[in-house]
Amino acid sequence: MKKIAIFASGNGSNAENIYQFFSNGNRVRVPLVIYDRKNAGVADRMAKYPDVKTIYIPKSTWQENPQEILDLLRREEIDLIVLAGFLRFAPKELTEAYAGRMLNIHPSLIPAHCGPGMYGDKVHESVIAAGDSKSGVTVHYVSEVIDGGEILMQEEVEVAEGETPESLAQKIHAIEYSLYPRAIVAALARLDQQNGNPPTIPGVTPPPTPSPAEEWAETLGVNYNPEKIYNSPSQNQPENMKEGQFEAPVPGGTQPNPQAGFQPQEPTGQTPEKMPSTYLVWSVIMTILCCLPAGVVAIIFSCQVSSKFYAGDFAGAMQASERAQIWIIVSFVLGVMANTLYLPLMMLF
Ligand code: GRF
Repeated sequence: MKKIAIFASGNGSNAENIYQFFSNGNRVRVPLVIYDRKNAGVADRMAKYPDVKTIYIPKSTWQENPQEILDLLRREEIDLIVLAGFLRFAPKELTEAYAGRMLNIHPSLIPAHCGPGMYGDKVHESVIAAGDSKSGVTVHYVSEVIDGGEILMQEEVEVAEGETPESLAQKIHAIEYSLYPRAIVAALARLDQQNGNPPTIPGVTPPPTPSPAEEWAETLGVNYNPEKIYNSPSQNQPENMKEGQFEAPVPGGTQPNPQAGFQPQEPTGQTPEKMPSTYLVWSVIMTILCCLPAGVVAIIFSCQVSSKFYAGDFAGAMQASERAQIWIIVSFVLGVMANTLYLPLMMLF
């Protein structure tokens, strides 16, 4: 299980989307959302989810006591910090402790329209003012340079004729909801590949093997080859992917590739699940129970055959013999039915 902390300052639609995305699976959880503006919409959004601690951390703590935040992250055993509309520059203590474990999303194609003061609608206004025909979304690692860390994923969007900052923001948000969860999974997979490194944060155990990527691949029934991810050619990413359908980072931040690293699994010809040993026992018991009553009747008629025969009642002996034969057949049919119907019936109940 990987744990993510989300930092947000505003509306928090990305934070909620990421929470919902991962709550569908059981590999990644969002136990902690931290916000730094008292009236941030993210607080109301996340209040609906009792399994998330949504905590306000004031400016003074960020500036004077970042160690307190680090302690909180350690207590919650956070593996990855995800900035989603977080307008504060994360303190050095955090960026150092979480180097390679902190992501940010920026609503343009970095290196265009980014850097200090470039956030929210200002980015879209700048794109439109520049007359760009394309904008997009970038997910990158956080470094000491604003919007300057390694790019993990990017996705483009067309800037249409007459586009407004509002309409562009809408398009960008739609892409973000699809791209950010996939980028998070890619970052987690990358962390697993670095297994064997000492934990970045003392006190937090390194991720166990198999990695989430491998576990998800197993759940989805696909072969997972981590090496292939980094060599795959770029493709456009379909929208609305679910947890487990993911790609890993492409060096240089090129377009995402949904199929990277995955191949359909060859059928093995083996029974996927072992038959439970109790099945055989119960099937024998069922057969005996079904055969027994008819079998007893058949035996009674058989006994009558010999007694009637020796008493000179030949017609009665014949009749008893016929009845005994009928009940033997009934017993046999019930036995076969008990065996063949047992499994489907067990599945029903
Ligand atoms: C997003 O557009 C993101 O790219 C930028 O801030 C915005 C946050 O939106 N960093 P929301 O608060 O998640 O709705």
